[in-house]
Amino acid sequence: MPTWRPTVFVERIPQLAEIVIRRRADIIDRGTDWIRRLSTDLQGKRPRAETRELVARNYEGFYAMIVDADTQTRDDFIEFVTAYRSSMEFKISTLLRGFMTFKVGFEAVLPEEVDDPVAARELRDMVDEAYFDSCFLVSDVYASKLKARLHQTEAELMRREKQAALGRLVAGVAHEINTPIGVAVTGASFVRDRVAEVEQSFRQGGLRKSTIQKFFGDVREAANLSLTNLDRAAGLVRSFKQVAVDQSSEQRRSVDLGKYVGEVLASLQPLYRRTALTVRLESTAKIMVSVMPGAVSQVVTNLVSNAITHGFESGQEGEIVVQVSKESGEFATLTCRDNGRGIAPEARDKIFEPFFTTRRGSGGSGLGLHIVHNIVTDLLAGEVQVESEPACGCTVRIRIPIEA
Ligand SMILES: Nc1ncnc2c1ncn2[C@@H]1O[C@H](COP(=O)(O)OP(=O)(O)OP(=O)(O)O)[C@@H](O)[C@H]1O
Ligand SMILES: [Mg+2]
Repeated sequence: MPTWRPTVFVERIPQLAEIVIRRRADIIDRGTDWIRRLSTDLQGKRPRAETRELVARNYEGFYAMIVDADTQTRDDFIEFVTAYRSSMEFKISTLLRGFMTFKVGFEAVLPEEVDDPVAARELRDMVDEAYFDSCFLVSDVYASKLKARLHQTEAELMRREKQAALGRLVAGVAHEINTPIGVAVTGASFVRDRVAEVEQSFRQGGLRKSTIQKFFGDVREAANLSLTNLDRAAGLVRSFKQVAVDQSSEQRRSVDLGKYVGEVLASLQPLYRRTALTVRLESTAKIMVSVMPGAVSQVVTNLVSNAITHGFESGQEGEIVVQVSKESGEFATLTCRDNGRGIAPEARDKIFEPFFTTRRGSGGSGLGLHIVHNIVTDLLAGEVQVESEPACGCTVRIRIPIEA
């Protein structure tokens, strides 16, 4: 469909068409020579016939546009070269130079065709206009293709990063579980060996009271060791199951956030009842949020138990304040603040990583805040931030949309 006409010297189109048709081979040849001389890279290296073919397609595009007022052929050519180019590293100038082959070829034959300087200038202006018009178009098309590719690459990178993170997590779990299971196995095989020994003495009739007594002590100790370690392994598995927050396990419903958090804090009393810590809820207005209540409970439990275990020495006095408030009409904030020892600067960047803990060996698995992060960002569609200075306590701030 005709959509384009040079805005200048339309009356010269027949003259231009006549020259361009008659001198087709020359225009293409001269354009080809020019670009091969200029480009030491791609065009310079490929066989001349191949370059000439591209220059010929370019010629068809310009011919159709200027003479037939049909931009489709030119646009098809732009599609063709940008598709072809966007698959490799290259400069946009290379493309624009390709478009120039028609202009260069035409200008080379022009003095042989037209003597009148005014006519020559007008013909050249028409070709120039077509050339610049095409340059802008090809730049736009190429830029948008590049952008699309960038988005694609970005999505692919994110997918890979997620996969790598999962791989690290699985490796971490295997590593963490290995130790307690190993200890439990050692304990159980110790029991088996001791039983065999004592059984043999019993059969031979040489079983002494002192042997039996020692046997009881040994077995009790080994069984306790195995149980403690199996317990620890089971705890790790439980935590690990929570890492993959299960979206389908609970229904979203509307809850009064302050009231609900108050109930959770009450249920956590056994954790702090016999300490010198006070745990307090600050909640002024009633805020109804649409959430999975279990997710909120898990978050609050992790934050409060972190404050209790990591923030304070045993017997130390302190305060833990959980605050629920509304931020504009769209967001609710849930803040857990303690006035304990805080987090060291070198640990601050790592606390959300799975298995980062400063209490390895005394019950910490390092999954708590990782789970909190997953729940807040995935299930609650919110954000979580931690502010902490050593000796100035720790504040975890969570922001969730009210109607998620
Ligand atoms: N309120 C806090 N005060 C001081 N340090 C904290 C606080 N909360 C978290 N931390 C630090 O962040 C680390 C990571 O916390 P996270 O809850 O992920 O693991 P954890 O509590 O050690 O183990 P888990 O929660 O799996 O039992 C803790 O080991 C601790 O060093
Ligand atoms: Mg924790």
